[in-house]
Amino acid sequence: MSKIVVANWKSNPNKNQEAVKLAKASDYKHFIVCPPAVFLDSVGRTLKRAALGSQNVFFAEQGPYTGEISLNQLKSLGVSYVIVGHSERRRYLSESDELINRKIKACLKNKLGVILCVGEWEKKSGLAGLRSARKQVKQQLEKALLNIRLNSADRIFIAYEPVWAIGGGRADEPARSAVIIAYLRKLLFSYFAPKQGGALYGGSIDSKNIRQFLPYDVVDGVLVGSASLAASEIKKIAEIAGSF
Ligand code: PGA
Repeated sequence: MSKIVVANWKSNPNKNQEAVKLAKASDYKHFIVCPPAVFLDSVGRTLKRAALGSQNVFFAEQGPYTGEISLNQLKSLGVSYVIVGHSERRRYLSESDELINRKIKACLKNKLGVILCVGEWEKKSGLAGLRSARKQVKQQLEKALLNIRLNSADRIFIAYEPVWAIGGGRADEPARSAVIIAYLRKLLFSYFAPKQGGALYGGSIDSKNIRQFLPYDVVDGVLVGSASLAASEIKKIAEIAGSF
């Protein structure tokens, strides 16, 4: 399987015109482009090769849920993946493991792929730090997948995103992340053998450091935030990812 690049635009850009421009620059085969909900339609119409992803979903197909985006709406826009459990939603919107679990169940029932984000909040060094991070991500993964019976047609990627490495221009040490990613991947594959799935790294990935992460076999791809907003960076990232 080729390496995957998930572009998470977060609450950017400001205008539709800019979103369409960015979508054109991001239209590569193994990309999953995740614009904010307001641009899903225009970005979805622009993409020809990349898949369309949503940054969020509500767990009901439709109904009285003010301000939420339903599963049916996402499906009608051609969305194929949903990011669930991102640390910014856990932090600013108090998303709980229980809510994340409900969203994953709903996505899979509706044949939407899931990109589940997990990661420890604080940076702790050494072996003790590694053990504690492993324990935290295991708990997050198990709670997220609680009582979900997966089958091989389900599509799930686990994105390991150490929270302290997000948005600050200081990615984790690739070798350290690879250890945790290998562990998460094994855990995921103990639930099922997905046709499309695996484990990703996220946290300050850019065109300069991506080369250090992708050589690891266990790293099936990357989740890119800030660097996915610059056309020049995207081009370089796509070239590098395509060479693996
Ligand atoms: P970043 O964001 O690349 O800006 O660190 C990654 C993420 O939050 O998914």
